[in-house]
Amino acid sequence: MCGIVGYVGSKQAYPILMKGLYRLEYRGYDSAGIALVDGDLKLYKTKGKVSDLEHFVHDKDVTGTIGIAHTRWATHGEPNNINAHPHYSQTHNLALIHNGIIENYGPIKEELQKRGYKFISDTDTEVIIHLIEDIKVNEKVTLDEAVRIALNQIIGAYAIVVISKEDPDMLVAARKGSPLVVGIGKNEFFIASDASPIVEYTQDVVYLNDEEIVTVRRGHKIKIKTITNKDKTPYIQKLELNLSALEKGGFEHFMLKEIFEQSRSIQDSMRGRLNAKEGTVKLGGILDYEQKMANAKRIIIVACGTSWHAGLVGEYLFEDLARIPVEVEYASEFRYRNPVINEDDIVIAISQSGETADTLAAIEMAKMKGATIIGICNVVGSSIPRATHAGSYTHAGPEIGVASTKAFTAQVTILTLMALRIAQMKGTIEKSRFHRLLNELEAIPEKVKETLAVDKQVKELARIFTYTRNFLYLGRGYNFPVALEGALKLKEISYIHAEGYPAAEMKHGPIALIDREMPVVVIATNKGTYDKVLSNIQEVKARKGKIIAIVTKGDKDVKKLADYIIEVPETEEMLVPLLATIPLQLLSYHIAVMRDCNVDQPRNLAKSVTVE
Ligand code: M6R
Repeated sequence: MCGIVGYVGSKQAYPILMKGLYRLEYRGYDSAGIALVDGDLKLYKTKGKVSDLEHFVHDKDVTGTIGIAHTRWATHGEPNNINAHPHYSQTHNLALIHNGIIENYGPIKEELQKRGYKFISDTDTEVIIHLIEDIKVNEKVTLDEAVRIALNQIIGAYAIVVISKEDPDMLVAARKGSPLVVGIGKNEFFIASDASPIVEYTQDVVYLNDEEIVTVRRGHKIKIKTITNKDKTPYIQKLELNLSALEKGGFEHFMLKEIFEQSRSIQDSMRGRLNAKEGTVKLGGILDYEQKMANAKRIIIVACGTSWHAGLVGEYLFEDLARIPVEVEYASEFRYRNPVINEDDIVIAISQSGETADTLAAIEMAKMKGATIIGICNVVGSSIPRATHAGSYTHAGPEIGVASTKAFTAQVTILTLMALRIAQMKGTIEKSRFHRLLNELEAIPEKVKETLAVDKQVKELARIFTYTRNFLYLGRGYNFPVALEGALKLKEISYIHAEGYPAAEMKHGPIALIDREMPVVVIATNKGTYDKVLSNIQEVKARKGKIIAIVTKGDKDVKKLADYIIEVPETEEMLVPLLATIPLQLLSYHIAVMRDCNVDQPRNLAKSVTVE
């Protein structure tokens, strides 16, 4: 939520900051702004997207070799020109950008108002810059010290960057609960919410930790200290990020590109980890913890949204293969319950961004209660991998479309590898089945390619259902999470109401919704419960519902009943989610495009949910 960028160096800051904002726009896109120092502290901001900001400043003075910029996802105060960031301090000597939520902004604001400060926005953010200025002026301290003292009074989550007219060579930034990375170039520094605005200028980065303050000054070395005033040695890392991964590469949208990348991304998730010939699964990141996982009496999976759906697939996998009981929890519910957590529990936290606030909080809570935390994340260097004991990166590459696609299949791939490895260690899987599954998993990237060939057919289907108002998605077993994920994708990018249900649950309520207007997407690939799913389809047909069925190639019986058929290649039942999800992603995508929706940046959403 909210993207922030800063630059200080010898180049003009404006083009670097604007390019950075475009790269970070997936994080929020309701308003945007920029502040530059070049003698004056110039500040421009507007409601709308980064392109609106660009348009707004086209006739303004944007010179300066130091600046900060922001793209917003509103929490406090509606998206408008005033609530957009940056925010000026009272004297207009300072300006600040912020990502996060200040929980105690109310009492701080009251106190500052008593002291004569005038607030012009409805944001929680404005208190920070007034507070910093108040401390700087009254306590006669340097800007970085004023920031440090102010942050000691602030409760909440923040990534901030402060710029000063009086000190035009320096930026001060800090983080707690919201990500921040600093790029170190030749006589220049970059600050951003993630590495995407930095990668084309330098590979050397420092990921800031919570409660750390960084000062970058032209001609000086990077300086980091904690808010308790302890100096820290910067840990400089090399970026592993490919610039082409941040571009659309000829596709109309990032989402379509990412759907089509899945053969490669699943392959990358397995690379160096699965060797079907030798019959081995090796996940380097969890090696020291696999025995603990194998001994676990229970696994708790915490996640949100699509990652939670991947967690549900994980539940079936771990129970089926490794015979370990699994609970899958919404991180947001789990953190506020008083869950029973034992020291021999394994908590698996799944997150594409690695920054989801609820998932992070659930991890902290489980850690305090003594559980071992294993992460499955996509973004390297993000907060969740750093908060967990061990884990595996999904290696799906940057996912920029707000709707998660390749991250889901990569998460399911890692969960499959983990479950197989633990099952092998525990001896809960027969050798022949283990080898069969390994071979089949290795064949999945090719089968994904085959599955993607349904794109044209799905597009035709999308044309038929473009203006439908409701959709129902049904699946059983491994296909139940697929149904949930299909429904979520359609909702978030096309704004069509959609529900996912376990197929057998339909008769307990949702069946009341079925009439000739209601398309029902049934994932009907199951071998074990094929006849049961056939009965569910009959129940829909009897009420004149329209059936769109995802079936295994060569299927005969569902074909006879369904109105529309999409075939996926045959595979092991537990691997079907890796294939059956793809036509559902494509269906949502094409419907959304035909409805003229902004596919990559759907309304009200943001890619990385760093607030509660
Ligand atoms: O980054 P995370 O995987 O932790 O994000 C969790 C959810 O916010 C995310 O999956 C969300 O539901 C997506 N918009 C789904 O497409």
